[in-house]
Amino acid sequence: MSKISYVNGNYCEHKDSFVHIEDRGYQFADGVYEVFGVINKKIVDYDGHINRLFRSLKELRMNSPINKSSYYFHIKRLVKINRIDDGLIYLQITRGVAERDFKFPKNARSSLVMIAKGISQDTYDDTFKKGIKVKTVKDLRWKRVDIKTINLLAPVLAKQEATDHYCQEAWLIDDDGFVTEGSSSTAWILKKNVLYTTPLSNSILNGITRQSLIKGLNKNKVRLTEKKFNIIDIKEADEAFITSATQYVMPVVKVDHIKIGNGKIGKYASIFRKAYMEAVKLS
Ligand code: PDD
Repeated sequence: MSKISYVNGNYCEHKDSFVHIEDRGYQFADGVYEVFGVINKKIVDYDGHINRLFRSLKELRMNSPINKSSYYFHIKRLVKINRIDDGLIYLQITRGVAERDFKFPKNARSSLVMIAKGISQDTYDDTFKKGIKVKTVKDLRWKRVDIKTINLLAPVLAKQEATDHYCQEAWLIDDDGFVTEGSSSTAWILKKNVLYTTPLSNSILNGITRQSLIKGLNKNKVRLTEKKFNIIDIKEADEAFITSATQYVMPVVKVDHIKIGNGKIGKYASIFRKAYMEAVKLS
């Protein structure tokens, strides 16, 4: 079955889906994006992701090319025509096509593309059982990473460095030695029954998975502190995790050369995954 993508109002064969060479996303990374998880044909936390998309657009003074209510229709349609059971929808908006000029173009219409990807539940489960390894890398990103922009060169380099060290994620370290977040995920450690994650600021993305996990934990009365942690805390951690729209809750078993706990996934991994799955809204 051929894959279908959405490009500026048209549903196209994925292999024939193109944007113009003077799209501002291509020339300036002048755009924003969202990733929606799909579980059992349903969109995970749709409202959270769409509201964050509109916040990102507003922060960059960019227009949405379609009404807010139309996004749901196209996302659901892509899931259906691509026969996705589990996987993701990638959605990107740029400031549109215009002759290269740093200033905002006057009459350009924002470009919107959406891509569907199936990922079997087994792939996730297999990784969950083993846990993942993390490499720490200096955080080289700009100062507004709370906006979900397509300016991803620093995370690309960080993830590649992690990959070169046989790790699946990079944890980004700020100038004071604290973890900000993962290259494409939120970072967490559990130390003496307290769960730590970095407090919200312009230096991290307000993860939608983070929000749902926190909701789920409240119900389970787990102690959470939104406090920065560093390599010393990681050495003392009993468990560690990442969360994101594509990884949900994923245990971390090693950070650089530090084994977390006994180097195997801990008992809270399944507890947190369950708490998260109970808190998410599927639509
Ligand atoms: N990344 N922090 C960063 C830097 C991210 O890129 C992401 C998500 C998150 C987690 O956010 P959420 O829980 O809303 O997915 C945190 C997506 C999945 C990506 O770029 O592919």
